[in-house]
Amino acid sequence: GKVGVQSGLLQHLYQFLHCSPAPTFPGPPSHFLFGNMMELTHDHMPIHLTDLAQRYGSIYRLKFGNTTMVVLSSGEAIREALVKKWSDFAGRPISYTGNIVSGGGHNISLGDYTEEWRAHRRVVHIALLRCCQQSLHGVIERQALHLRKVLLDYHMKPADLSEDFTVAASNIITTLAFGKEYDKKSTELQQLHNCLNEIVGLWGSSWISALDSFPLLRKLPNPVFARLLKEVARRDEIIKHHLDDYKLQDKKNEHAITGSLLQALDKHHNTEHGGVLLTDVHVHMATVDLLIGGTETTSAWLNWTVAFLLHRPEVQTRVYEELCTVLEERYPKYSDRHRLPVLSSLISEVLRLRPVAPLAVPHRAIRDSSIAGYFIPKNTVIIPNLFGAHHDPAVWPEPYSFKPERFLEGGGGSARALMPFGGGARLCLGESVAKMELFLFTAYLLRDFQFVLPEGEASLPDLRGVASVVLKIKAYRVVARPRPLTEA
Ligand code: HEM
Repeated sequence: GKVGVQSGLLQHLYQFLHCSPAPTFPGPPSHFLFGNMMELTHDHMPIHLTDLAQRYGSIYRLKFGNTTMVVLSSGEAIREALVKKWSDFAGRPISYTGNIVSGGGHNISLGDYTEEWRAHRRVVHIALLRCCQQSLHGVIERQALHLRKVLLDYHMKPADLSEDFTVAASNIITTLAFGKEYDKKSTELQQLHNCLNEIVGLWGSSWISALDSFPLLRKLPNPVFARLLKEVARRDEIIKHHLDDYKLQDKKNEHAITGSLLQALDKHHNTEHGGVLLTDVHVHMATVDLLIGGTETTSAWLNWTVAFLLHRPEVQTRVYEELCTVLEERYPKYSDRHRLPVLSSLISEVLRLRPVAPLAVPHRAIRDSSIAGYFIPKNTVIIPNLFGAHHDPAVWPEPYSFKPERFLEGGGGSARALMPFGGGARLCLGESVAKMELFLFTAYLLRDFQFVLPEGEASLPDLRGVASVVLKIKAYRVVARPRPLTEA
């Protein structure tokens, strides 16, 4: 009641100060009972929400149960909310099921904006930055060389590479987290992935999201929910086993950030806050965050890149020629990126067309605020439609075409206008890890292989994609033909 009265008052004050009534919020008409449920069950949400933006503009509202969501589909609106007014919109929706998958809200990606969350994110961020400066480059190089071997072992037979990309990306995170890497056939790795994929998949299902909007349903038996609980328990068991293992190692792997996290906790207890703010649970949940945030995203991105290159083989030739001219015979370092504009333009264009977290992660207004002149009451859920911003015709001519040239000199596009990692307080925590991975993996792959459509394959990969939390391409097969320099 009180909050409602306050936000009502604020809205009046706001209208008064602006000397004109706050514009009524655009958006599709909503059913009195079901709200805009139909709009929210589309099979490719990013495309659907972007289509709605054509009709209702770059800011519009959708209703679901008693939740109001505001979808932002332009760079300007997203930057206003996430960067300029970051402290108003740094929250996450608080949900019953989110709480369950996130160990009671003690993780970074789903945790709400609290003092505990800030301390947690800061400690993990520092550990990651240290690792980027010290060991990450070598860790990625090792995985890139390993990936080369895996591709050579196909002997030019057509293959779906998505799993190999996932193993490579996941090994980087497991090396960072526990100093361990796995083989594709490793049952331990398979178990971990199956479990995390199940959790992400189940959590996205409407059987589960209904529990958030309709609390009464929680009283009924729900087999999908029971499975989710089981998978969460299994995940925690696997991660705990690895962390315990790590603690027991005599000679700890120097690449692992777990060490610096545990150290940071010790320090934290005795300083700043007096009380215990961060515990082993936070190390545990940070590991889950990094595994979930860092595996499918990077591998989906690599899979998109190869697919786009099949559509425009001449781009692949240009990147290859640039690598040969600039680097002669050696492999690139991350510091070479400024001397490789063609490669960089390819990376930017794939990030633009297929931001692999197309709707970021929902934010929540933690106080009354405004975006683009519209009043936004506390607790409104904000959906940053990064896919929409990257297809805004006002910023990107021919937004749906794959044209890396737009990022080259005179092409008119600026990589600074991209926001694949979001921005502000909730900026992707793995941004610097991801950028180094995308660059090194792409450079190694394109130096060593030419990717071609398998002979007799009638059609090119379908570029529409399948969207859940991560935007992935449908399975396709490709031939990796070694380049002359590639030694077996
Ligand atoms: C959050 C994109 C790779 C860890 C996010 C968000 C986006 C994003 C859009 C949500 C930002 C928001 O809520 O506004 C990407 C892309 C990647 C990538 C495009 C690769 C191409 C990674 C990697 C890691 C990672 C490699 C880990 C090493 C995280 C975490 C969060 C996050 C922990 C939650 C941050 C928070 O809530 O404060 N990412 N990401 N991501 N990402 Fe990434």
